[in-house]
Amino acid sequence: MSTSEPTRSPYEGVALSEEDLNSDPLAELRAWIERARNDGLPEPGAMCLATVGGEAQPSARMVLLRGLDSGLVFFTSYGSRKGRDLAANPRAAAVFYWPQIQRQIRIEGRIEQVAESESDAYFASRPRGHQLSAWASEQSDILDSREILERRLEDFDLRFGGQSVPRPHSWGGYRLIPHRIEFWQGRVNRMHDRLEFTRTGAEWQLHRLSP
Ligand SMILES: Cc1cc2nc3c(=O)[nH]c(=O)nc-3n(C[C@H](O)[C@H](O)[C@H](O)COP(=O)(O)O)c2cc1C
Repeated sequence: MSTSEPTRSPYEGVALSEEDLNSDPLAELRAWIERARNDGLPEPGAMCLATVGGEAQPSARMVLLRGLDSGLVFFTSYGSRKGRDLAANPRAAAVFYWPQIQRQIRIEGRIEQVAESESDAYFASRPRGHQLSAWASEQSDILDSREILERRLEDFDLRFGGQSVPRPHSWGGYRLIPHRIEFWQGRVNRMHDRLEFTRTGAEWQLHRLSP
């Protein structure tokens, strides 16, 4: 491995100043995702979600943001590794990164399950194939073969026949309610802008962090 620094194109990101940011960081988060979507970036709502279970081992994976209100809503299997982690320790962190515009957002907060009615409504909006796979897949469990999974999918397809597919109780949404949100804009010479909101009660405070 070469010890010399690889040539990197300098970060061309525009400046990010305190005055540019909405005083509500969730509104700012929404604006950054909209910007990524309007720029045509792939998967603008994909975030890396980190959890820590009862054994204090951090674990991270991508999930898709499906709603943004008082928190960040995503859907998954409650029996998955992340679901088990969140049952033991209902806190999480998430990261968005859009390399094309040199922007990153980091979020930390507590986790709540969304209301059953919210999970039902989202599940009902999904394509039938996705609904059936939520039944067929015991997410994160060991599978002896791919064929077993495909057979399970066929079995559930037959079981529900032409009827609508109900939501499995083991599948639903979580809401990550932030108490820390950091907006990062890449700048030349690694003199990046980092603006961090932290929440005390209902109030958000804004700080600039050293890059
Ligand atoms: C871009 C992308 C988006 C994903 N979105 C979701 C999602 O919204 N929900 C989900 O359960 N898994 C999603 N996955 C799969 C997860 O990354 C992961 O493999 C799965 O949830 C099992 O994780 P766990 O074993 O840590 O629980 C996504 C993967 C990628 C690459």
